[in-house]
Amino acid sequence: VPRTRPPSRLEIIRTVMRNPLELWGEPSFRLEWMKTKFFTERTLIANHPGLVRHVLVDNARNYRMATIRQLILRPILRDGLLTAEGETWKRSRKAMAPVFTPRHAQGFAVQMLEQSRAFTARYDAAAQSGRIRDIAVDMTELTFDILSATLFSGQVAGTEEDFAGDIERLLSTMGRVDPMDLLKAPAWVPRFRRILGQNVLEKFRGIVKQTMEDRQRLMARDPEAAPEDFLTLLIRLHGPDGLTIDEIEDNIITFIGAGHETTARALGWTLYCLANSPSDRDRVEAEIDEVLASEPDPVKWLDKMPWTRAAFEEAMRLYPPAPSINRAAIEDDRWDNGKGETVVIEAGTTVLVMPWTLHRHTKFWDRPEAFMPQRFLPENRGSIDRFQYLPFGVGPRICIGATFALQEAVIALGVLLSRFRFDCVPGTRPWPVQKLTTQPEGGLPMRVTLR
Ligand code: HEM
Repeated sequence: VPRTRPPSRLEIIRTVMRNPLELWGEPSFRLEWMKTKFFTERTLIANHPGLVRHVLVDNARNYRMATIRQLILRPILRDGLLTAEGETWKRSRKAMAPVFTPRHAQGFAVQMLEQSRAFTARYDAAAQSGRIRDIAVDMTELTFDILSATLFSGQVAGTEEDFAGDIERLLSTMGRVDPMDLLKAPAWVPRFRRILGQNVLEKFRGIVKQTMEDRQRLMARDPEAAPEDFLTLLIRLHGPDGLTIDEIEDNIITFIGAGHETTARALGWTLYCLANSPSDRDRVEAEIDEVLASEPDPVKWLDKMPWTRAAFEEAMRLYPPAPSINRAAIEDDRWDNGKGETVVIEAGTTVLVMPWTLHRHTKFWDRPEAFMPQRFLPENRGSIDRFQYLPFGVGPRICIGATFALQEAVIALGVLLSRFRFDCVPGTRPWPVQKLTTQPEGGLPMRVTLR
């Protein structure tokens, strides 16, 4: 609806609470940068790849996490890598880098394959009767199973508890903006969402602590007996140059928070985009059929399935699971665009680098609204600027789990699409909404049939 007046403060708060993506109108997809005031906060929207590079890479030292992320996530994730800053972040990132090498991700390929296959077995009944499923919920279940297998090898203390349900409740209760934070209310003003989530958080932390202690006992008794999963790898990092016990706990919670819903969203959006583009779906299915018939090693699938990978990457362009990467300038800064224009960034300014606007920017993409996986085929991707496509971020704080996620996605898509076909139904009308990730409002109802 065309606006005749600027939105009121209340309208802005309501939009931020409901769906921050709706804040961004047409100019945000056309201009290279925009300066605005968000309540009292100076805000810069950085849409030019050069400016993105400046903020996230070249002068990254001058930028810290934006306050809002710390307010929402820090009470849950504490000193986990996503919310750690300064020396703690530096030491933790260095210590954990070896855990996320491609070699380790490849080591997890078998679990990814097994969990995807187990999931298809559960799906068969639904597919035989052509039932409609909420793919958003199902993909969250699948990526949770994969994360649980690679994180704890399924050995969670008190498994009769609804662990997955606890996480879901925790993220949906606490992982949202509180209006008191937007209004910059002093710390003594209660944040009800956080208070409500506290019980779940404590119960959840209790399970993680117990799981860690069980594993530490097992490792002390018989180091060979411990499975090579994230938990074992993190416990081995315990030490002065590595992680403290509390940091190991925080990082396990961070991996759960950062590592399954993101991938689940991207998988759901990929199936949705493919259902709307039958010729691309045919190509992806043909590729998968050929590779699965000739290549039993799932580690090789990422390289051997360029169309499948490209469909996933293109879906993340249109629906980036992390739609906004926020920073705050520590000292005054400036950036020249090489055409005589300078952006002055005063200390304290919030800088929004938004995959949401960057990925659909009319200046940098041909037919930005169209789903065109071929953009990401190896022979074409050279024409995409590194700083205009950022589903995993860029620079020192780039997603540490990116290789893991890509491999997981190709294996899961390979297994799912070799057996099932996903089609839209009249109720499939997903409107992207920014919660912790970019979610389809009202879910993703789709018909699943056997191919
Ligand atoms: C950071 C996206 C999967 C763990 C990030 C960032 C983005 C992102 C955009 C950068 C945030 C920033 O610069 O402020 C995604 C997407 C995923 C995904 C789109 C899936 C499709 C994963 C997985 C894991 C993971 C599977 C772990 C198993 C992390 C961690 C960080 C991070 C720990 C913080 C890194 C740091 O600050 O040093 N992710 N992620 N992510 N991601 Fe991911």
